[in-house]
Amino acid sequence: MHLPSVPDAALSPPVVVRPARSGEGPPSIPAGLLPGHVAVVLDGNGRWATDRGLTRTDGHRAGVKAVLELVDGALALGLSHLSVFAFSTENWRRDAGEVGEVMRLISAFATDHGPWLDEQGVRVTWSGGRGRLATTMLDNIDALQSRTAGNTRLTLTVWIDYGARDELWQAARQIAIDSAAGRLDPELIDARTFGSYLYRPDLPDVDLFLRTSGEQRLSNFLLWQSAYAELMFTDTLWPDFDRHDLWAAVVDYSRRHRRFGGH
Ligand code: IPE
Ligand code: MG
Repeated sequence: MHLPSVPDAALSPPVVVRPARSGEGPPSIPAGLLPGHVAVVLDGNGRWATDRGLTRTDGHRAGVKAVLELVDGALALGLSHLSVFAFSTENWRRDAGEVGEVMRLISAFATDHGPWLDEQGVRVTWSGGRGRLATTMLDNIDALQSRTAGNTRLTLTVWIDYGARDELWQAARQIAIDSAAGRLDPELIDARTFGSYLYRPDLPDVDLFLRTSGEQRLSNFLLWQSAYAELMFTDTLWPDFDRHDLWAAVVDYSRRHRRFGGH
């Protein structure tokens, strides 16, 4: 999908999503072959913008549009869980101006597109550290989470200030605290117990882990949850990623033979 210019108005509703042209509808994949949880590392906003002589902020704006396109494509396909890596614990190393813009865009995503997401039956949840986020942003994303809490069609989880290592050591620490306090028998700790200490034990394991922009790294995203995920990497830069790319990835996934370590 090519987005030649990305005016500010692109962030205001109504959301314009490209309707499927005839013969271009989603592939029909039996529900049992759909990935139960698709996790996406959206990467390449900066390079997309640089290629066009635009600012990195323009790239992030275009990235927000691509997230809406992804959600619409996921709805058309009938996916039930989608996770997007919006901001990592490592992203704080970027210059303060860019960090501020990304945060502002995430916040605007919640306010501007909340109504559309709600109408579509999307339950938006978010996860990650709260401590470093601005109060207005927290208010906006919390409000969207509450507003859409009853929706059941698709759960979109936005990971903000998230890092899997933080999540894992925090789980380990809490397990140690609970064990020391006698609330947990250390002998009985197993994978299920451990999983219940993660940020979002309600989410299913990741089945399909997708990253754009040619980078082939997990970058500290959902490491525990992706233990058996099918990994897919595409050279497409995130703002160019559209529903057809998602559908192609899911078709590829549905053809893979997952063995979970068996034969
Ligand atoms: C992804 O794109 C942005 C975030 C999720 C914060 P990048 O900003 O990493 O784009 P490149 O890698 O510089 O092209
Ligand atoms: Mg990057």
